[in-house]
Amino acid sequence: MDRTTAGGAEAALRAVADAARANAWCPYSHYPVGAALEAADGRAFGGCNVENASYPAGTCAERVALGTAVAAGARHFTRIVITSAAVEPTPPCGICRQALVEFAPALEVIAIAPDGRTARWSLAELLPAPFTPASLQHV
Ligand code: THU
Repeated sequence: MDRTTAGGAEAALRAVADAARANAWCPYSHYPVGAALEAADGRAFGGCNVENASYPAGTCAERVALGTAVAAGARHFTRIVITSAAVEPTPPCGICRQALVEFAPALEVIAIAPDGRTARWSLAELLPAPFTPASLQHV
């Protein structure tokens, strides 16, 4: 973890994540999360968590950002920035790791706490030995 001053592009992604987080629908957990997924072509796609009275129907910010990006035609991604109000920077949940690895096994994952403390991982580090499209090949 570090407090490295974010570069311009990373600061812009943090702003996209924070803007999405402001729209989080989280009346059950009261835990808003924002995500900004950067496509290889430079576009950034925001997402927030969208909860549901039927709790398992809720969706994480990261997968909302991914779905928004794919719907816009993006297929290749370089970074994801995640922001929440948690004291510690928080990595994506296991389901989101799996969703992201489908498109971006080399993704850089950046989590930023409100005080600016930043944690960085590779997705490969967070999800070693993933199940990928290649795993579906069979004899
Ligand atoms: N959540 C996310 O949006 N992203 C994560 O990486 C972890 C958890 C959401 C799901 C739920 O709406 C709330 O945070 C509490 O788990």
